[in-house]
Formats: sequence, structure tokens, C-alpha cells
Amino acid sequence: MNIILLGPPGAGKGTQAKKIQEYYSLPHISTGDILRENINNNTGLGIKAKSYMSRGELVPDELLITLIKDRLSKKDCDEGFMLDGYPRTIPQADALQMILTESGKKIDAVLNISVDDNELIKRLSGRRMCKCGASFHVLFNSPEKEDVCDACKGKLYQREDDKPEAISNRLNVYKKQTQPLIDYYDKKKILRTIDGSKDISQIFEEIKKVLEEYDKKDTK
Ligand code: AP5
Ligand code: MG
Ligand code: ZN
Repeated sequence: MNIILLGPPGAGKGTQAKKIQEYYSLPHISTGDILRENINNNTGLGIKAKSYMSRGELVPDELLITLIKDRLSKKDCDEGFMLDGYPRTIPQADALQMILTESGKKIDAVLNISVDDNELIKRLSGRRMCKCGASFHVLFNSPEKEDVCDACKGKLYQREDDKPEAISNRLNVYKKQTQPLIDYYDKKKILRTIDGSKDISQIFEEIKKVLEEYDKKDTK
């Protein structure tokens, strides 16, 4: 199954993606994570992306389209994949469709995780990250020991774009540039909206239910 996780910053895309990845063995492709890895390794792409990301703006489409084309051509995507944070603009969605059509594939399901702005701000400002990819929240999903990762015992840190000014910028950018994708995929009849305001395990149960429905539709 080929899935897109859509939703505003802080909706819980990364949190749910980790669970979906484990349960369905689908590779989790987070363009945000790939870009942050490039920044850490000081690659050409990382250097270009850094200033956009720290301000909470989108990295230019042409860089993202090249990145995703390359990533989707990897062998681990042959049996399905899950996109988190891509596409984020209509040109990115059009490019994705072209890339997939060329290899005889399509998107099966778009899960739109919906959460209101006040809750998003709380989630983003309390988020703490670990180098290993794990993500926590000081109140809603706190690690056993303050500022220490449960998984690898690494020291937790705050993402540069989780500071107040970048958060409000990201929410505005989402509304202007990414929200139109809800309509885009709704017209293709593959969009399902998930109430992302519940707790993490309830949302995952809902996602499993929805994905089973898509699966049944597919085999009919
Ligand atoms: P990206 O890394 O994709 O960030 P984002 O979309 O802003 O989303 P987040 O990762 O902040 O939120 P999330 O939905 O994953 O939430 P999470 O699960 O962590 O992108 C970063 C930047 O990279 C962009 O701004 C842009 O510059 C660039 N970029 C990336 N892709 C791009 C593209 N395609 N085009 C152009 N530029 C691109 O959860 C958030 C917090 O809430 C956590 O603390 C978590 O523990 C907590 N939480 C989760 N679920 C719940 C719940 N149900 N209840 C309570 N707390 C919860
Ligand atoms: Mg994320
Ligand atoms: Zn860790």
C-alpha cells in the first residue's frame, strides 16, 4: 500500500508514522527527517535547505521533487511506502503523480490528520527530539527520565523550528500552501480525515480501521 500522511505541523504525522511503520512494515519517508539529516551532514542540499527550515518556510519545490524521486526509486519502496511531509504544494503533488505513473504505481490512501491551531501550538512548543529519530512531549508523551531518550538514552533537544516565531510561520505556510492538497486528494476520492485531537493510541486504532477499509476496496 502507498500512503500519504497529510496534516499541519504538529498534527502527529511522525508519531503515527512510527506506529504504522512497525505494524505494516512500510518504509517511513519523512522529507523533514531527510532534510535534517542533510543539514547535520553538511551536504549541498542541507546547506541550501537550512535557512528555509529554521524560518519555518518551505524548501523550494525543485529540491524536494529531486529528493523524493530518488528516494522512491529505492528497492524498499517496491512493496509500498508511507510519505510524511510530502507533498506540501500542488506542484509537488503533480510531480509525485508523474513519478508514480512512470513506474506503474499510484497512491492508495491519503490520511488527513486534523487538529486545531491551539492544540498544534501546544504540541510543537513542548516537543523534544532525539538524534535517533524518537520524539517526545514534555506533557503529553514524556520520557521516563527528563530530557533523556527512552529508546537510546541520548540527550533530547528542541527543534530549531519549534521556537514560537517559526511555529506561527509554519502554521501560516501550511494554510496557504499545503491545505489546498486536501481538496486535491478529496477530488481523487482517496482522502480520509482522521480526528487527530484524540490520544496517540486512539488515533492509531482509527488509522488501522481506515486502512483496512482501503485494503478491502482494493481487493474487490
Ligand atoms: P517536517 O519535519 O515535515 O515538519 P512539520 O510538517 O512541520 O511537522 P512536524 O514534524 O512538526 O509535526 P508532526 O505532524 O510530525 O508531529 P509529531 O508527530 O512530531 O518539516 C520541517 C521543515 O522541513 C518544513 O517546515 C520545511 O521547511 C521542510 N520541508 C519538509 N518537507 C518539505 C516539503 N515536502 N516541501 C518543502 N519543504 C519541506 O508530534 C508533535 C508533538 O506532539 C510531539 O511532541 C508528539 O509527542 C506530540 N503528539 C503527537 N500526537 C499527539 C497526540 N495525539 N496527543 C498529544 N500529543 C501528541
Ligand atoms: Mg514530523
Ligand atoms: Zn534516542
